[in-house]
Amino acid sequence: MEEEKKLPVHVSIIMDGNGRWAKERGQERIHGHFEGVASVRACAEEAARQGIRYLSLFAFSEENWNRPGAEVGALMELMGKSVCDEEKTLMDNNMRFLVLGNRARLSAGLEAAIRALEEKTAANTGTTLVVFLSYSGKWDLLQAARRMAAAGDDDLEKYLVTAGVPDPDLIIRTSGEQRLSNFLLWQAAYAELLFVDKYWPDFREADFRAALEEFAKRDRRYGKVK
Ligand code: FPP
Repeated sequence: MEEEKKLPVHVSIIMDGNGRWAKERGQERIHGHFEGVASVRACAEEAARQGIRYLSLFAFSEENWNRPGAEVGALMELMGKSVCDEEKTLMDNNMRFLVLGNRARLSAGLEAAIRALEEKTAANTGTTLVVFLSYSGKWDLLQAARRMAAAGDDDLEKYLVTAGVPDPDLIIRTSGEQRLSNFLLWQAAYAELLFVDKYWPDFREADFRAALEEFAKRDRRYGKVK
């Protein structure tokens, strides 16, 4: 009998290479981010078609606040625009929307738009699209440790912003760089890592499907002997 294809429950993507994609075309970095939104839509729709329970995207790190003000402003504007424009994509695909990170740093307008979309999609039962915004792994561990100590508890996982979201089975990073860059440090403990030699704006549904094929070939042992 043919073995059932192993499907990851949670696929997470470090979307990298937007700036280089734009530079190679003689364009401003923000054009790479614009084109990156089309890849977000393509992968989200493919994840929904494939029945992936969680797709998460590293959209903006705590360190990204240190980029030039104009780029940070343009990225935040793009986030706000995407949150408004993509409501139909999410509803049509029965997707739930969730933003995780240091949300206190977001503007009141963006925070309100995010909250509204989270509420609007809360009852959807398909893929959950998690966007990590103003997130870093060390920040998450620190805020969790503080809250855990205050509660006199020892269940750290419960205090991470990802509580309730299963750990990623597969983490994909585009652009050829091979590092986690302060992403899900605790949660990535047993994730399969896949580094893809394409810039994020070039990563589309066929690449997402190829990543799932690669994942199905991996032998996961969690430190045990099979
Ligand atoms: C990394 O490329 C990409 C980002 C920091 C931003 C990712 C954001 C988007 C694709 C926009 C919208 C997102 C959502 C969820 C709607 P880089 O700028 O670090 O590229 P480089 O390494 O080539 O400079």
